[in-house]
Amino acid sequence: MKPINVGLLGIGTVGGGTFTVLSRNEAEITRRAGRPIRIVQVADKNLELAKQVAGGKVAVTDDAFAVVSNPEIDIVVELIGGYGVAKDLVLKAIENGKHVVTANKALLAVHGNEIFAAAQQKGVMVGFEAAVAGGIPIIKALREGLAANRIQWLAGIINGTTNFILSEMRDKGLSFDAVLKEAQRLGYAEADPTFDIEGIDAAHKLRIMAAIAFGIPMQFDKAYVEGISKLEAADIKYAEQLGYRIKLLGITRRKEAGVELRVHPTLIPAKRLIANVEGAMNAVLVQADAVGATLYYGKGAGAEPTASAVIADLVEVTRLHTADPQNRVPHLAFQPDRLSDVPVLPMAEVETAYYLRMRVQDKPGVLADITRILADSQISIDAMIQKEPAEGEGETDIIILTHVCKESAANTVIGKIEALAAVLGKVTRIRLEELQ
Ligand code: HSE
Repeated sequence: MKPINVGLLGIGTVGGGTFTVLSRNEAEITRRAGRPIRIVQVADKNLELAKQVAGGKVAVTDDAFAVVSNPEIDIVVELIGGYGVAKDLVLKAIENGKHVVTANKALLAVHGNEIFAAAQQKGVMVGFEAAVAGGIPIIKALREGLAANRIQWLAGIINGTTNFILSEMRDKGLSFDAVLKEAQRLGYAEADPTFDIEGIDAAHKLRIMAAIAFGIPMQFDKAYVEGISKLEAADIKYAEQLGYRIKLLGITRRKEAGVELRVHPTLIPAKRLIANVEGAMNAVLVQADAVGATLYYGKGAGAEPTASAVIADLVEVTRLHTADPQNRVPHLAFQPDRLSDVPVLPMAEVETAYYLRMRVQDKPGVLADITRILADSQISIDAMIQKEPAEGEGETDIIILTHVCKESAANTVIGKIEALAAVLGKVTRIRLEELQ
């Protein structure tokens, strides 16, 4: 049967992996897709590298726009990343009637609504399995596998760099700065690690998952985003003593008034499976009404894991490109005219439990003052540790775990505790989720 022709934009790690896996598993992939999938043109600024990776049989150019306009090409794979030229290329490919497969979470989280609307109008598919959690097929699980369910919430470890850093901090008792330097030396973290450590990469992926889980448009500016750069080794240790691990979670939850959408360091019970996801691995826990909890675990980055997701999309497009667009799986899981306008809740309205650590003078009445402030705001204490002051020191740490309350109530209480004369400095607040 006539092959389907693919044009590849960007030949970095994932592009290389896509070549390797497509060629190694050619026979199996063709049996699945019904016809061969063939990369016929590659664009990259680094022509030498592109020639090396693509081999002699594939045309190579440094002009990506030549690929999206090439009449021979059926599917454009965008692996450039970022919101800049990648957006122009994807929109141009769609305008030219080409299907698109992309691993670009930033592009979809920020411009997804525009891109999906253009694709819808043109009757082409945009595959983005590789954009979230690398090789884990979480998009297809949410969109197709769980299609019977009302999804209630999901929580994901969706950034490998930060999970690696947190695992190392816990295992070795090291500070964030020390582990970050080591992660950069080993090549786990980028030279500029901001996107990863400040939670932005996780927030992009969370927005995409929330859109598919609840059938809402991408709302890139509405998520609460807090990274791990201020996390202290002491909190990881105290959390452990209380039976918890700290993970950078992306959490989205459907509530009556709207949808929670937040990325932040989170205490989770050490006995949960997801709490034991270590190193650079990813995992997503989904709670849905019919199936209950399901957990998806695997490699969230890397050449072949991400290529696995890219090629799954290539197979899907190959199978369905001759189908009536009405009969394809909608980009955001729900029919485009049936998306919900449920709002994203402001952080003040979010409900969660809290870990609060404060440095206090060791004198009578301090603990009573703190617990009274919590009681006056109807915030119930779940557990508490007061450390014995070190020899000759008149100060100590108090750690309190609260029951679930509104973030606005927690803010008020933290302000009042910080105003007490016996409380020294700021209260450290880390959110806590039981994930039951
Ligand atoms: N930088 C991401 C991570 C991988 O550390 O998980 C690509 O999304």
